[in-house]
Amino acid sequence: MALYALGDMHLSFMAHKPMDKFGKVWKNHEEKIEQNCNRIIQSGDTFVITGDHSWGRKLADAKPDLEFIANLPGEKILLRGNHDMFWNAKKTALLNEQYEPRLHFLQNNYYCYHDYALVGTKGYTFEGPFLINAKGQIISWNPDDEKQAQKLVQREAERLRTSFEAAKNAGFKKYIMFLHYPPTNIMEIESVFTQMAEEYGAEHVVYSHCHGKLRYADSIRGMHHGICYHLVSGDYLNFTPEKIVD
Ligand SMILES: [Fe+2]
Ligand SMILES: [Fe+2]
Repeated sequence: MALYALGDMHLSFMAHKPMDKFGKVWKNHEEKIEQNCNRIIQSGDTFVITGDHSWGRKLADAKPDLEFIANLPGEKILLRGNHDMFWNAKKTALLNEQYEPRLHFLQNNYYCYHDYALVGTKGYTFEGPFLINAKGQIISWNPDDEKQAQKLVQREAERLRTSFEAAKNAGFKKYIMFLHYPPTNIMEIESVFTQMAEEYGAEHVVYSHCHGKLRYADSIRGMHHGICYHLVSGDYLNFTPEKIVD
């Protein structure tokens, strides 16, 4: 048994949004996902998919994409991404009712893998726009935009705490934390999300959202303050699920 993660499938079986204009890594990416998942993930494994599942704006438009995911191997747990318009965070229970037991939607709740609680939320981080100088360094940004981003960060931090507390109250002591957005932005070395991971003693933090070579180093990868950070964006991993723990 193993726990795998992969994010940002950006499927569009109904919404028709071709992704190959973003580079050749996206060419026939649905086939790559299907083949890689079927090759790597066994039926007893758990597979967390970290958001940006579908371009469908309404649930009816996202249904073929969710069906594709439901047919992948393993126990599927889905996190909300910024593009998942079909998923109203306040109506997660309804989604869970509709798709139980084929898909599990992670929002203000938790799931378990062995003695780990799998906790998470979409997260958020300020992404600019930034004013860049000739050396490529950030020199300024709109403070109003940053203030607005801070509100969203706080809301997501509350949702993450709800998830951690639900697991803690159920007696869990080991955590793996999932975010869609990176835990820090390119100017930060820590954030409310990294602090919370440390506060609860999460062993792994898994996130995606960063697309393209220029964005892969936006946040923490590898060991940091005793926690292992994993970037699992689909294009970063060439659509190959990453094993997080055995
Ligand atoms: Fe994405
Ligand atoms: Fe995203």
